[in-house]
Amino acid sequence: MLSRLAALSLAIAAALFLPSAAIAQVLPTGPVLAAADLRDGQDLSGPWNWSIDPYRDGQAGFHGGETGTGHRRYDDTDVSAARRADPLALYEYDMDTAPVAILPSSWLTHTPQMRHYQGLVWYQRRFDAAPDPERRSFLRFGAVNYSAEVWLNGQRLGRHDGGFTPFAFEVTGLLRERGNRLVIAADSHRSERDVPPPVTDWETYGGITREVRLLTLPKTFVDDGLVRLAPDGSLLADIRLDGAGRGGMAVRLAIPELGIEQSGIADSEGRASFRVAAPRQLQRWSPDNPRLYRVEITAGDDRWHDIVGFRTLAVDGSRILLNGAPIFLRGISLHEEELGANPTRRITDAAAETLLTEARDGLHANFVRLAHYPHAEPMLREADRIGLIVWSEIPVYWRIAFADAEVLERTRRMLAEMILRDRNRASIALWSIGNETPIGDARNSFMVQLAQDARTLDPDRLITAALLTGREERGGLPVVTITDPLADAVDVLAVNSYFGWYGGDRLEDIGSYGWDLPADRPFLFSEFGAGATLGLHAEGTPQKFTEEYQAQYYHATLAMAKGIPTLAGMSPWVLKDFRSPRRQLPFIQDGWNRKGLISETGERKQAYAVLADWYARLDGGR
Ligand code: GCU
Repeated sequence: MLSRLAALSLAIAAALFLPSAAIAQVLPTGPVLAAADLRDGQDLSGPWNWSIDPYRDGQAGFHGGETGTGHRRYDDTDVSAARRADPLALYEYDMDTAPVAILPSSWLTHTPQMRHYQGLVWYQRRFDAAPDPERRSFLRFGAVNYSAEVWLNGQRLGRHDGGFTPFAFEVTGLLRERGNRLVIAADSHRSERDVPPPVTDWETYGGITREVRLLTLPKTFVDDGLVRLAPDGSLLADIRLDGAGRGGMAVRLAIPELGIEQSGIADSEGRASFRVAAPRQLQRWSPDNPRLYRVEITAGDDRWHDIVGFRTLAVDGSRILLNGAPIFLRGISLHEEELGANPTRRITDAAAETLLTEARDGLHANFVRLAHYPHAEPMLREADRIGLIVWSEIPVYWRIAFADAEVLERTRRMLAEMILRDRNRASIALWSIGNETPIGDARNSFMVQLAQDARTLDPDRLITAALLTGREERGGLPVVTITDPLADAVDVLAVNSYFGWYGGDRLEDIGSYGWDLPADRPFLFSEFGAGATLGLHAEGTPQKFTEEYQAQYYHATLAMAKGIPTLAGMSPWVLKDFRSPRRQLPFIQDGWNRKGLISETGERKQAYAVLADWYARLDGGR
């Protein structure tokens, strides 16, 4: 007999966990596999064969239609053996003898010739497995940029679109003990109907940029376990099992360090929820004390765990509250790109630690904007671990095909994939649904739907977006206002501001610019920045792209920021110079966006100290 409390918590969970019919249609079709990165599994990182296919010869015949036998990279065929057996057989590929690259890694660094390749590349991994008829097997992909079609032993498993979110295919019954042939068609091509669109201000790192793992799980397993601290101070757990035996299965929740153990019975859909008073000894997660706890959920033969921080978030007028206290977000923006002169978007634990400790320890930051797409899991785990608050976002960036219903559905699915992967991460405070998107009716309703979805999937977090502004003269001085109707759909207002870099504003004037903002809403500078090439110095009047100009830009913009009473934080653009094909000023940019406070190899520019000192003073001089 369920206790009244358990019945109450089930009712709450049903409201939370039973997604509205509207959102159910855009949830990932496969399992969520929450905290998959912590599951034991077979890591398929390492040597993969790869075969370039710029004309997509492996996907259609030369008149369209079926791909010819000698062109099907995904066939479960030993081409060398087939050619030995029949000298007249014609093959024009051979994945087994194709070149080898170490994955995960974008293909841009496979060879010098691949540096600027965009299009289709075939990958193959041969691996042995130990298929167990009593367990289920899944291939889980951290991300493939931009789309992926997947075959195992010649059988097509499916397709995924979106370069920054995980996906999985069940392969129970398809594995053999020896020589499994996993083939992926990774395609970086994006049309105007993709998210992000073809034109962005960052490099397209095509390929398998995150881990591929083979997970073998019990026939019924814990697929999702959302655990969090509710505003009223109770601990909530919403659990969902996957498998034929999920209905009525006993479920146990434990947080050993807090002395919490709860048992219950899953409903017919495999859902179970718990609500317990938070014990006194619970230490809330914060940048000053990033306390994490091991959370264990057992169901049947499955042992699932995650490492979770507990904290509360709220907005109170123009203040952002963390654990009930106002916090100023001392941030910096960064792309998913490791340090080095030839990055390949391979974010290991070490790469994440290097980037994020530079922000926390070097800049005295307590906040990072992980732009402009969901970053790899090591970044979020590291932010949890070292205490950095995170702005996480989907790449609804600039010119999206807002009027296209299929684009909206694909974007909603991408948002759900991001939230379902990361909603246990205490560090994430803000979900951003877009960046500088042009105002219009189709865009407004598109974005409002995304905001609603985010609230349905995750009511505890704050919603934001980089909004558009208007500018008018008042008393001879420029005054900035937020004219973007999307402001009404978000919790935190955010703006990218570039006075003194783009346009003709003079640095000596911008300190007096006015910002006419709602007095009862928190406001963030989600970006401001100026370019500088490391080592380029001004003789006399600083010119744009000198380190001196960038430093003066920061002094002027920070002076302007100080005059904004509702300013709740900032994430200047950008921690590190990053690759961008749009930036081709010779000897200055050479394909890099130079707004970094550090160079691509991690060397600090003059402006770095300007921001670091400003934050240090805010942080009580620590
Ligand atoms: C824009 C945009 C960034 C871009 C930056 C820049 O606001 O959001 O993605 O890199 O400005 O121009 O450097």
